[in-house]
Amino acid sequence: MEGVIDHHLRHILTRIGGYQHCVTEFLRVTDRLLPEHLFHRICPELTQQCQTRAGTPVTIQLLGGDAEIMAENAQLAAELGASSIDINFGCPSRFVNRKAGGAVLLKEPERVFKITAAVRKAVPGNIPVSAKIRLGYESTELALENARAVEAANASFITVHARTKVDGYKHPARWEWLGRIDDAISIPMVANGDINSVEDFLRCKEISGCQNFMLGRGAVAQPDLARQIAAAQSQKTTTVMQWHEITHLITELAKAMQTETDDLRTLGRLKQWLVYLKKQYPQAVELFKQFRHVKQFSQAEELLKTQAQ
Ligand SMILES: Cc1cc2nc3c(=O)[nH]c(=O)nc-3n(C[C@H](O)[C@H](O)[C@H](O)COP(=O)(O)O)c2cc1C
Repeated sequence: MEGVIDHHLRHILTRIGGYQHCVTEFLRVTDRLLPEHLFHRICPELTQQCQTRAGTPVTIQLLGGDAEIMAENAQLAAELGASSIDINFGCPSRFVNRKAGGAVLLKEPERVFKITAAVRKAVPGNIPVSAKIRLGYESTELALENARAVEAANASFITVHARTKVDGYKHPARWEWLGRIDDAISIPMVANGDINSVEDFLRCKEISGCQNFMLGRGAVAQPDLARQIAAAQSQKTTTVMQWHEITHLITELAKAMQTETDDLRTLGRLKQWLVYLKKQYPQAVELFKQFRHVKQFSQAEELLKTQAQ
């Protein structure tokens, strides 16, 4: 998730467990071959066999509307060590859509096909290429056509965020569409949208009939959500993370960020995480209020210490 789940958070979340894969923030491809350092910035895991330190494979996500340039960049990603590549056809950002990238491409299934096929051809066959789509731009009219375009381009699998671009992130996601799409294609499908609890996961599974799932905001709001879901799937019990454990994770993120950025940015990221955590942990509301007056990392660290018992 762009601006939210970077390599630090990928490390923390995958260490907690329950994930089989994770994906980088999107790397925006415009009209040229990007410099290598941008691939390393978005995916520092390139230097560790494209896995988080917990050993979870990391997929590099590319976003762009020019098939040839996307293919060139995908080839470079592969040369740099990418072990799988995903193409973003879901980003709703006006800025990105204006530059012919993300969800706006869903208006043109032929273009979805061309981009996916070009990326597929450009990278060695052992590197999976996948695409992430929404149900459409304004309507769901082209949902099946876009999914079939991804399949026809020989993608290894498709992830479907069960909303249109116009739906944004609004609740509820349209899980009933997931099964329809899954029935229309024969490549594996990953279901995404509004899975914020074990109960949501079970309902999404029942309604969609899908077997593979991607978490979004729920993963940030509840850092052990994937572990809880994995336990539910194997009929095991697991303890749910308590607030004091969460505060250790926040401190860990802060310390990791401190090595590469300033106090202000670190504090910004911590506040951002607290906004997500508020949905699950009422204690985050109070801590967020206290953080408003904090200007230095050391003050934040002190506040976190008082919560960590
Ligand atoms: C702040 C933010 C950033 C996101 N960035 C990305 C991204 O870079 N790539 C992507 O495929 N999806 C991105 N998404 C979409 C999520 O991956 C997910 O598809 C979406 O939030 C729906 O799932 P949810 O309802 O469980 O959150 C982003 C979502 C948010 C809210």
